[in-house]
Amino acid sequence: FSKLLAPTPPMGFNNWARFQCALNESLFIKTANAMASSGLVTAGYNRINIDDCWPLHDRAANKSLQWDPVKFPNGIPWLAQYVKKLGLQLGIYSDAGNMTCGGYPGSLTYEEIDAKTFQSWGIDYLKMDGCNVPTTNLTLEATYKGIYGHWHEVLSALSTPMIFSESAPAYFAPWQGVTNLSDWYTVMNWVPKYGELARHSDDIQTYDWGGAWASILTNYGNNILFARVQERNRGFYNDPDFLIADHWDLKLDEKKSQFALWCSMSAPLIISADVPALKKEEIEFLSNKDLIAVNQDAWGLQATLVSQDGTWDVLTRSLANGDRLITALNRGATDGNITIASNRLGLPSTCVGPYSNYTAKDLWTGKSKPITVSNGIQATVPSHGTVVYRVTLPANCTGKYV
Ligand code: GLA
Repeated sequence: FSKLLAPTPPMGFNNWARFQCALNESLFIKTANAMASSGLVTAGYNRINIDDCWPLHDRAANKSLQWDPVKFPNGIPWLAQYVKKLGLQLGIYSDAGNMTCGGYPGSLTYEEIDAKTFQSWGIDYLKMDGCNVPTTNLTLEATYKGIYGHWHEVLSALSTPMIFSESAPAYFAPWQGVTNLSDWYTVMNWVPKYGELARHSDDIQTYDWGGAWASILTNYGNNILFARVQERNRGFYNDPDFLIADHWDLKLDEKKSQFALWCSMSAPLIISADVPALKKEEIEFLSNKDLIAVNQDAWGLQATLVSQDGTWDVLTRSLANGDRLITALNRGATDGNITIASNRLGLPSTCVGPYSNYTAKDLWTGKSKPITVSNGIQATVPSHGTVVYRVTLPANCTGKYV
């Protein structure tokens, strides 16, 4: 195996959903400081990604992009060094077309120059958006493939690695009004050849819009559609967009659900929130060690749906040590009880040895409980909440289904 650039899903911060274009050096300094002092860096969040609106509208005489010196008085290389001292790597944003979504210069035809510029600034993570890609005499899908494929070659030729986050599939998603949805699937099939992660959906709601819970469910649902893409490509992750951990339109249970689902799916964990102002309970759930261990599991698999009945979504997944993950989301408007029968999950219905060896750890409480096979897992889940269990099968039951 060649060395993977992202052996496990990237974790970190991006300003977009929370601050959009209101970004500057001081925001990133305060965020980096707070990520370090709150323990988020120790928990594994080791990236700060700058999104759109960072450059000047004009390229320099030598054609390179230049940061806006009013927003970044000390410059981006300085910022990269600053955050590095706190254990963080800096990432940046550009666009595959002529202009970014926010109207700043795009990278089309400047790929080599821009890659080298970013590298020289100490950046090792590049988000490549897909606004303003001009039409050519190729199909739109082939045009995007050509540009993102070229980017892959350019980044691979650099002397230091650069994680490549591709937004191409999002431009073929249903919300774009695209009628030929097969292109969406086609693009999702080629992105893993070129990069480490790919946005497949509309933006998760930004801080000034409502409907945040609905957008979480939509992006989660789309992510489920593409489970096979992640499972077949080690080191590649479907990206359902940012964790909106302080969104005013979400209850705590909904924020925790997003985190539990993203961890279950081994999705990138990129927080877009006002980190210095995060509440204690928000830092606490974002730092949940057991859920992060699932997210960062060595196999990088994605939980997939076992059943869905309008109220309950039940998902499952294998983990590298042989444990089984079981996740249940309550979509209902009221708190509810769910029983997840062992045999419905393909767990042994009987096995040799004492059943008390079969344990389920509740990853929110950290408590393990012995499971009687005939009873299955029983849980009370708040409205819009999600429970996650890590099930350890009894050793003497392995492979022995009676
Ligand atoms: C698009 C992307 C967002 C963000 C903005 C910036 O909408 O999907 O994540 O990068 O552009 O303009």
